[in-house]
Amino acid sequence: MLGALSLRLKSCISALRKRIGAAIRGGEPLWQDLSPEARRKMWPAARDLQEKHVRNCQLLVNRYVLLERMPKNAICAEIGILECDYSESIVRGTGPAQLHLIDIKPQWTKVARKRFKSEIAANQVCVHEGDSVAVISSMPDRYFDWVYIDGDHTYAGAKRDLDAVLPKVKEGGLIALNDYTFFGVSDFTKYGVMEAVHEFCITNDFEFLFLALQGRGYHDVILRRI
Ligand SMILES: C[S@@+](CC[C@H](N)C(=O)[O-])C[C@H]1O[C@@H](n2cnc3c(N)ncnc32)[C@H](O)[C@@H]1O
Repeated sequence: MLGALSLRLKSCISALRKRIGAAIRGGEPLWQDLSPEARRKMWPAARDLQEKHVRNCQLLVNRYVLLERMPKNAICAEIGILECDYSESIVRGTGPAQLHLIDIKPQWTKVARKRFKSEIAANQVCVHEGDSVAVISSMPDRYFDWVYIDGDHTYAGAKRDLDAVLPKVKEGGLIALNDYTFFGVSDFTKYGVMEAVHEFCITNDFEFLFLALQGRGYHDVILRRI
């Protein structure tokens, strides 16, 4: 009796929470409150790749092992640097001829300028503050050996970065993306990198060269032209 009452109370509270939440958001329900069917409709699956897109793909244990496979002494870029932890791994792990670090937020470019003072003085590291597409578009065509994309992880953000980077990598150059996932389990956020990557590979005839795993599903993928 008490159990049934408590269950009923819980379901009333949940219904009330959804209504209040929706009212606050102007009638928009939280995606958590939608049915699985409604969520599937709202977020269509990434397009299927073909055998040709994955036949040469090698699976790696993580993105640090990946750096052992990336070109050494290269001209490269990292889009989205945050505290520059991975930038540091790129510098130490691949010894780039020139690494361009790009971020839209002044707080992170400030970190980069502090952290890579000697590399900047030696012209090994260049720091760019601004929107990724604006910065990348200002570079010469076929300039980079590889670019690591880790900025805006929405579908639109990943797509515009991929499209901007495409003409800027050399023939045979590599495009890497962090957070190759459909949904972020840690930040409970919809990611669109998977959809953007599949569409990019299908449209531009690129294949997966490496897939580097990450323990919560925030994998890295490295692409090259077929
Ligand atoms: C996930 S963090 C990058 C993490 C870093 N690559 C690492 O592995 O440690 C994403 C970064 O992208 C930057 N960002 C987001 N949108 C951007 C844009 N349109 N242009 C440039 N940077 C952007 C954010 O300011 C943030 O620092």
